[in-house]
Amino acid sequence: MNFELKTLTLSQAAQVAADAFVVLLPDSGLSAADAGPFQQWLDGAIAHKDLEDGAGKCLLAYQLPISRARRVVVARVGDGKPANVRKATAAALGLLKGNKPNTLTLYSGAVGGAGSAENAAATRAAMLAVADSTYVFTTTKPGATPRSLNKVLVAGAGGTGLKAAFDEAVGMVRGIELAKEWANRPANHATPTLLAKAAQQLGKRPRMSVEVLGPREVAKLGMGAFMAVAQGSEEPLRFIVMKYQGGAKNVAPVVLVGKGITFDTGGISLKPAPEMDEMKFDMGGAASVLGTFAALADLQPAINVVGLIPAAENMPDGRAVKPGDVVTSMSGQTIEILNTDAEGRLILCDTLTYAERFKPRAVIDIATLTGACVIALGSVRAGLFSDEEALAQQLQAAGDVALDPCWRMPLDDEYAEGLKSNFADMGNVAGRQAGAVTAAKFLQKFAQKLPWAHLDIAGVAWKSGAAKGATGRPVGLLTQYLLDEARRLAQASTPAKPAKAAKSAKTASAARPGKSRAA
Ligand code: BES
Ligand code: MN
Ligand code: ZN
Repeated sequence: MNFELKTLTLSQAAQVAADAFVVLLPDSGLSAADAGPFQQWLDGAIAHKDLEDGAGKCLLAYQLPISRARRVVVARVGDGKPANVRKATAAALGLLKGNKPNTLTLYSGAVGGAGSAENAAATRAAMLAVADSTYVFTTTKPGATPRSLNKVLVAGAGGTGLKAAFDEAVGMVRGIELAKEWANRPANHATPTLLAKAAQQLGKRPRMSVEVLGPREVAKLGMGAFMAVAQGSEEPLRFIVMKYQGGAKNVAPVVLVGKGITFDTGGISLKPAPEMDEMKFDMGGAASVLGTFAALADLQPAINVVGLIPAAENMPDGRAVKPGDVVTSMSGQTIEILNTDAEGRLILCDTLTYAERFKPRAVIDIATLTGACVIALGSVRAGLFSDEEALAQQLQAAGDVALDPCWRMPLDDEYAEGLKSNFADMGNVAGRQAGAVTAAKFLQKFAQKLPWAHLDIAGVAWKSGAAKGATGRPVGLLTQYLLDEARRLAQASTPAKPAKAAKSAKTASAARPGKSRAA
């Protein structure tokens, strides 16, 4: 699917030959100068209540003399906020589903003033919604009708902000769709080895490099927790290290850590059969890291990013790790594996320790970590856990802007009580209460030397039921955060460099936002 951006008035956009023409209509109306004969037609439709009030309400018209597109959909976007634009665009595309268009003109010029930030944000939201509503997974379904839409002309009101938002949307769509593709693939088509190959493909893009470690290297690193999870599977584990170098060499990177359990049976603590197939999505965190790197490859922001993916299958087997087994993590801390189904934290904890070597400005792990998070927050917001105020705020803000939101959860030390063990430095599970929080408390024990945040995406990474499939979340949030961070970095370096930054030996603490860490 190709997006193209042109500055056009509504009347001009209506004269573009296309299978369909979608007009986003804010409550403030079309601009009079712009609307031409469209306005009169629209006034009639509204007077007859053929176009109802309310964001998401649409009117479909066929072969209007005022448009060269065969079908025209006017979609109300209410106040024009991105969430309403997304809703309206999805509704408009829904009306076109019966005979899917190959070419589409999308007019967003009436939303917000020309050249305004509102207009740019609305256009971006509409583009993301067009992509989301037309996505089709075909890899293991040759009978599926692939996406028919191949050309989307975005007819906008112009301005440099619009061009930037357009480019961001194109990059995000690429990233989201790569994440969907890998998360949707069944486990036999998305093994740790295949995930590593996908990463290596991305490694060919500009400023990217990828290194893949196998069982021998991982053993050498002492990743006893990660290895324990992988030992029950015939599929060898992979530890994927991706680097995007968009900034100067000495600038501390952001590290993204993605849980890459390509299938989670639960191991010896076997999961029940119903819906177990959905555990193919348990590499949604890893997929979001791949997707975010795809977006970085497109957008080329001035920032350094490291992506770390521990990839393995969690299987029951004669060699599988058993409840009660004690393993030594890369950090030296020992763990009593009381439940082999709490495997995500085991592969992440060693990866967090590995992340220390990058002296990162921030480490964000992304994981389909707990069913408890699904109960707590459902599929609307991901769980956000962080003891770094600034980082938490930046991530929450990025999620809100990208319509890929998260919600801050607590990390009080009392929540760690249940992780105590008589046989190791900690157990890998606590009681039934606050399961999403106790999982985060476990991870926090391995992030003591890091400016860390954890996103539990168990509720948002995929949809169940008839619409079963990956969402591509939180690629939008992560990409937005990295673009924001690149902007913050650029701003911090244009005026005279703060003298303090050079004083600390630890570049990480000097360069990163948030609280400074004493000793
Ligand atoms: N991958 C699951 C989490 C999950 C479960 C995500 C259901 C989405 C839907 C994770 O590895 C897991 O099994 N977590 C356990 C932890 C428990 C044993 C403490 C859970 O949530 O049940
Ligand atoms: Mn599990
Ligand atoms: Zn899992």
